[in-house]
Amino acid sequence: MNPRLPSKLYYGGDYNPEQWPESIWQEDIRLMREVGVNIVSLGIFSWAKLQPSEKRFNFGWLDRIMDLLAANGISVCLATATASPPPWLSRQYPDVLPVTADGVVLQVGSRQQYSPSSRVYKKFAAALVRKLAARYRKHPALVSWHINNEYACHLQECHGEDSTVAFRNWLRARYKTLDALNEAWGTAFWSQAYGDWKEIFTPRRAPYHCNPTQCLDFRRFINDAFLSLSRMEAAILRTATPQIPITTNFMGFFKPLDYRDWAGVVDYVAWDSYPDPVDEKAARHAGAVGHDLMRSLKPDRPFVLMEQATSAVNWRPTNLPKRPGLMRLGSLQTLARGGDGVMFFQWRASKAGAEKFHSAFLQHVPHDRSRVFAEVKTLGFELGKLAIVAGSVVKNKVAIAFDWQAWWAVETESKPGRIDYAGWAQTLHRWFYEKNIGVDFVHPGADLAQYDLVLVPSLYLLTSPDADNLTHFVVRGGTLLATYFTGIVDQNEHIVLGGYPALLRKALGLWVEEWCPYPDGRTNGLGFAGDRKKYACDHWCDLLHLEGATALADYTGDFFVGRPAITRHVHGKGCAYYLGTRPDAAGLDRLLSRVGREANIQPILKTPPGVEATLRESAEGRFLFLLNHTDRTTKISLNGQRGRDLISGKKIVRTTTLPPLAAAVIQLDR
Ligand code: GAL
Repeated sequence: MNPRLPSKLYYGGDYNPEQWPESIWQEDIRLMREVGVNIVSLGIFSWAKLQPSEKRFNFGWLDRIMDLLAANGISVCLATATASPPPWLSRQYPDVLPVTADGVVLQVGSRQQYSPSSRVYKKFAAALVRKLAARYRKHPALVSWHINNEYACHLQECHGEDSTVAFRNWLRARYKTLDALNEAWGTAFWSQAYGDWKEIFTPRRAPYHCNPTQCLDFRRFINDAFLSLSRMEAAILRTATPQIPITTNFMGFFKPLDYRDWAGVVDYVAWDSYPDPVDEKAARHAGAVGHDLMRSLKPDRPFVLMEQATSAVNWRPTNLPKRPGLMRLGSLQTLARGGDGVMFFQWRASKAGAEKFHSAFLQHVPHDRSRVFAEVKTLGFELGKLAIVAGSVVKNKVAIAFDWQAWWAVETESKPGRIDYAGWAQTLHRWFYEKNIGVDFVHPGADLAQYDLVLVPSLYLLTSPDADNLTHFVVRGGTLLATYFTGIVDQNEHIVLGGYPALLRKALGLWVEEWCPYPDGRTNGLGFAGDRKKYACDHWCDLLHLEGATALADYTGDFFVGRPAITRHVHGKGCAYYLGTRPDAAGLDRLLSRVGREANIQPILKTPPGVEATLRESAEGRFLFLLNHTDRTTKISLNGQRGRDLISGKKIVRTTTLPPLAAAVIQLDR
């Protein structure tokens, strides 16, 4: 069980040969070899080509391209082709089409037009996967299965008949009795009590706020509905090819799917990353934080970046190309943060269809005149020099407790204010990123033994076992930082009474009486004890009472002027901080510097601003990645370490100098 990808660095991308005459394939393969491509994701959107009608299959073309790739030493991550059903399916079985909360049926002509609960879709998808598995199970090109594609990317819920029935069944399995459901959903409120399972629907469009627990359960259900599709495919593939690893492409901070559940289905994590180059600073952090989240799902093995763009995408209102050097640096960032695969959408830019203006290895212009082609060729050459890095992992001392269930709950309507859950977690992450301090993302109930510092941003939904886990982390000597609106409700989205956050009250040494969320633009101030400088804060202010904690900073304004905003509490062998508001960058820096010192957190390396440093480790060695994201030639001190830069081949002693957008991967001397 749990086969791994053969350990190496993977370089390639989506390959859609079905869009082209076979006469072009030879050239594709020749150029793939020229740039060092060693893997392609094949057949992702080829269902209609593979099965042109219900009873007719056409595998000849796939046989030929699989053979051609194998003959040329290029591996295949073979897709199950179930992401975009062919038009004949919904013509013959209209019920497969998804229905929105308003009752609109989504039609063919784009992609992903299926209900995740459609019995017909499942039947046909399973049959196709069985055929593919039987046909290619021993094919020499096959190294991995690629299930479906970006589950739920466009279609995030369905309210059709099959979904309604499936939702009711899901609820029956969860609650057993209607009494239990009524209790969990709090249906005494607004006369919502259910007397028959048939009275229950998915949260369709209603006159006013829907029952929040119903909404939360619907999110859980939808996640499970898509998950069961992936499990169905995985089970078929595992029976046919137990030795071939399975994956599907995740999408980073993607709210509809709880990727922790999904990590159990796949053998290795793969994901797609498309930061907008319009803001390069934001983009490099978006890439980094996405890698960190995805790596954390299966921390014992490298992930694969399944898709990124060689240059521009086609789906934003304005699609900026990546200027020279950016694609390479972003690709090396993938490796730097624990990835063993750098792949792209797609190999050859389409001539027709909605994505014809999306960049690719092969642009529409002759490849020998193409800047992008020259860059992917250089990258392929460099990756060849980094082979020894494959299989190494990233180890961190800082974690952010991040939970999809809490995300779903806190962002349903009717809250005191709007919380951007993932955005806030990313804001905290960014401070550590800019200091070259590695961060993992963990479930609040995870084993925290390896961490010295755990951050808990606005973990609105917190179960009692998870609260105990966080408390024990502190008792055993850890440093915790929780922020406003943490620990407010239980798994049913019911308030945990007794003074917020009731389950963490002892660990934090305080209780929150009320809060004051601010509209955009309104601010308050923070004054730290013994510091005359004032810091701004906005968005949210908790009004709290100390119960053992000491105040580190007070509010400087509003009707709660002088009341504590930031606190510290020694509990057991550790210490718990609480942040009741959102400070400005300087205030956050002041707080996090102190918290980091208390937890004795050290950066990988102190570097000039804009130079990212990370470390990967394995039995083969320790690899220090240095990425210069700036437009300045920058000198970096290695803090007494030395080694060899695998890219330039040069020995590095004491310092190294990186030109703009350049990188070094230094294998450190033992
Ligand atoms: C991804 C998708 C690909 C392609 C790409 C374009 O979301 O998986 O099929 O559409 O975006 O950026």
